[in-house]
Amino acid sequence: MSVTDTSPRHLLDVTDFTADEISQILRLAQVPIESLGRPLDGLGASLIFEKPSNRTRHSMEMAVVQLGGHPIYTRGEEVGFDTREPVEDIARIMEGYHALIAGRVFEHSTVERMAAVVDVPVVNMLSDRSHPLQAFADALTMQQSLGELSGRTVAYVGDYNNVSRSLGEISAMLGMHVRFACPHGFGASEAELERLLLLGAPSVEQSTRPADAVDGADAVHTDTWVSMGQEAEKSERRQQFEGFMVDADVMSVAGPEAIFMHCLPAYRGLEVAGDVIDGPQSVVFQQGHNRLHTARGALAFILGVRPASAESEGVGS
Ligand code: CP
Ligand code: NVA
Repeated sequence: MSVTDTSPRHLLDVTDFTADEISQILRLAQVPIESLGRPLDGLGASLIFEKPSNRTRHSMEMAVVQLGGHPIYTRGEEVGFDTREPVEDIARIMEGYHALIAGRVFEHSTVERMAAVVDVPVVNMLSDRSHPLQAFADALTMQQSLGELSGRTVAYVGDYNNVSRSLGEISAMLGMHVRFACPHGFGASEAELERLLLLGAPSVEQSTRPADAVDGADAVHTDTWVSMGQEAEKSERRQQFEGFMVDADVMSVAGPEAIFMHCLPAYRGLEVAGDVIDGPQSVVFQQGHNRLHTARGALAFILGVRPASAESEGVGS
């Protein structure tokens, strides 16, 4: 394990990293904590949440602690992005106290604006655009169940949102076939689908029928139909997403060893049937626990820690 000096390395999207760097982050997620050193020894990390969280707050706080640092949680209302003071002023103050700044934000531009003015890493803990920390955990969990991901097929059923955008990106970059099933008006644009091909997916398909996307897939993902901030659309969305529940019928057309995944929180009886999320194909709690390991690996990476070669570490999936 070596630590090198680097200029600030922001983590706003999966695509801020190369495929090789993503593999390094996934390797760092699996090495003993002690081997990462303590890159945050004596240092602080500012975690600002404009939206609720369970997994992200706890995994990030514990990752910071495991890297030797001290996390400070602040609710968005307290800092008041652009209400109490400008985003840029908040970020400039925070960089004087902390070795990194992380935000769970309504508008993706908020983390971009912070990153533009500070000399410490800025981390996106979920925005309206993306959820890269979730994607790292998704990729690690798929690797642990499926082994080498290149050439495998990932299917996502539901809303093309922050979670599925980041999942599509990381899956494409790791060489997976990517398939989406979304209701009319809730899918990825042609440009987004094309972008996944450019990122490395051998094929990208989108359908309005869950069974089309799931047919033969190795991993089947879904997420809530109503993301944080969309609460006013809840009843309308529930109607529009009717028929998109991942249930036993949908899973029956997936590959013989297919796993079921969900970033959580999950709504049983809406986007997923209870017997699927609580059934033998589900790896959702392993996936949730991997949020800690991948947060630690990702933070270590942006702080300059690099893995020894995979061979000498004996790290595999
Ligand atoms: N998956 C996820 O980000 O969960 P939280 O909203 O609880 O952080
Ligand atoms: N798409 C969901 C993910 C929650 C972790 C949301 O943004 O609310």
